[in-house]
Amino acid sequence: MRIDIITVLPELLKSPFEASILKRAIEKGIVEVHMHNLRDYTDLSYNQIDDYQFGGGAGMVMMIEPIDKCIAALKEQRDYDEVIYMTPDGKTLNQKIANSMSLLENIIILCGHYKGVDQRVRDAYITKEISIGDYVLSGGELGAAVFCDTIIRLIPGVLNNETSALTDTFQDDLLAPPVYTRPAEYKGMKVPEILLSGNFPKIEKWREDKAYERTEKLRPDLIK
Ligand code: ADE
Repeated sequence: MRIDIITVLPELLKSPFEASILKRAIEKGIVEVHMHNLRDYTDLSYNQIDDYQFGGGAGMVMMIEPIDKCIAALKEQRDYDEVIYMTPDGKTLNQKIANSMSLLENIIILCGHYKGVDQRVRDAYITKEISIGDYVLSGGELGAAVFCDTIIRLIPGVLNNETSALTDTFQDDLLAPPVYTRPAEYKGMKVPEILLSGNFPKIEKWREDKAYERTEKLRPDLIK
């Protein structure tokens, strides 16, 4: 997979890709992530990329021309499956969206700022709009990092134990069951007996029951 991220703050997006699973995915050559500074695509003085909104009102709007130029330069190099815009009014990211996006080859992610982008960008170039939740971030960069993390970890070969992504919370619309590790008893707090029994069919059944129980208690909305 190749991910091209268009941003005015490339430095904000460096560290998520320089540690742990995302770093390893890049080192293994499973994913390529490229940052593009939008300010490199403007001819205006002071590398201006935003302007006042027509009709008046507070807040600047990201201009269409630098975004158009950047997307066009990328599209000249290769075809893209999706051009994604990170925005609080996009479709809320969930595991289902992450699963389908993890199958794509080439994607562009545009990070919004200020009041957002000129609507003509959304109408003409954007194929998907994604929000990471019902709250407003200062820009789309942190949202883009979250989105990239959710999809990259799902690409086969990225996680060491590939089954672990399959048993994640939300993968079956259920929360994950509780997990324990050594010691089997700590200050009188004991690990459930069943997990020490070695009876794997029973353990599996226990985990399923706990996952269901937890979901019913904490996220009943997930159970259809
Ligand atoms: N940009 C600002 N807020 C956002 C959000 N909640 N999700 C994605 N991008 C955003």
